[in-house]
Amino acid sequence: EKQGFRHFMAKEIYEQPAVVRTCLEAYLDLDWTPSSNKSPFKLDLPESIYKDLENIQIVACGTSLHAGMIGKYLLEELAQLPTAIQYASEFRYSPPPLTPNTLTIGITQSGETADTLAAVEIEQSRRKDKAPKYHSRLLAVTNRTDSAITRVVDCVIDTHAGMEIGVAATKTFMGQLMAFYFLSLDLAHRRGTITVDRLSEIITGLKVLPSQIEVILETQEKYIQELSHSFLDTHDAIFLGRGINFPIALEGALKLKEISYIHAEGYPSGEMKHGPIALLDAKVPVIAITMPGKVYEKAVSNAQEAKARDSHLYGVVAASDKDAAEIFDKVLPVPDVDELLSPVLTVIPMQLMSYHIAAMRGLDVDQPRNLAKSVTVE
Ligand code: F6R
Repeated sequence: EKQGFRHFMAKEIYEQPAVVRTCLEAYLDLDWTPSSNKSPFKLDLPESIYKDLENIQIVACGTSLHAGMIGKYLLEELAQLPTAIQYASEFRYSPPPLTPNTLTIGITQSGETADTLAAVEIEQSRRKDKAPKYHSRLLAVTNRTDSAITRVVDCVIDTHAGMEIGVAATKTFMGQLMAFYFLSLDLAHRRGTITVDRLSEIITGLKVLPSQIEVILETQEKYIQELSHSFLDTHDAIFLGRGINFPIALEGALKLKEISYIHAEGYPSGEMKHGPIALLDAKVPVIAITMPGKVYEKAVSNAQEAKARDSHLYGVVAASDKDAAEIFDKVLPVPDVDELLSPVLTVIPMQLMSYHIAAMRGLDVDQPRNLAKSVTVE
């Protein structure tokens, strides 16, 4: 049931605060304080997952891959664990050499994606051949705890998003992000790679995310709906982001492509001058994510290069960013947030933009052409 929304996608975008709340309740001890002597996390993974862990590799497709890219950033930054990420369709025919003490994570909301399943199965069979020397372990991050992938892996993190009907993944992506925040913080806590003060700061930040998403939905939706009209004749768009927001640029571009059929590319902001800048003119809008943090100035100057090429420049920025109105033609503010948590907020304007552009064009938002919700063929 659409519960008053025009499309399932809109309903599912609006369910995201609830997904974050459910994950917080499931995976975090909400009474934890920095002086508690126990762990704040309740992931319930077997000890064998953690023992002597040295490396992580992630396999996934599409939007799940983008969640995994953010996961890589978190696992490396917080838990100091080298993390590789690969398209499942590439991994399955050229898996990297086995490394000892490696955790393989398959991310798939449906749990049925053929390539992701095959990639994880390859890892499982290599382990059978080489065990116990390599001590590899398998984890699935999925929204379906009864799905095919759960029968191949050692353990599962449930993304708790509830049934997603719109073909475009929105709330399941949110659940996947939550899984990676909790996994990387849990690992960081166990490995001693995070201070209690920083841990407590991030936990406080996680708890306010649901209300911050609500603020974006309440204050930005109408504005983004109006903005969507300026995309009526758009054929190409560029999304830019750096650091932990680079995968959100990819996700913004994927969402726009799949439901509004506008050609879009996501790029790391710093790569624009190495080719794609040649595409820019007044007909190619640029959507840049420039959140406060270690790459803020760089990301802003990359965005300004686009403006110098006459592109219409949209900025996804922090609400407190006083300079944004000068830099961007249109500003899409999100509440101030720790840089590490910012993808949870910056993805919301991306989802709203693609949704409203597709709806404004009269397209079948929930059932885009040529796409299926679950890709069970190669
Ligand atoms: C994007 C989208 C697809 C899926 C991809 C993987 O909105 O829906 O790109 O993310 O097909 O699907 P799962 O997560 O089920 O493996």
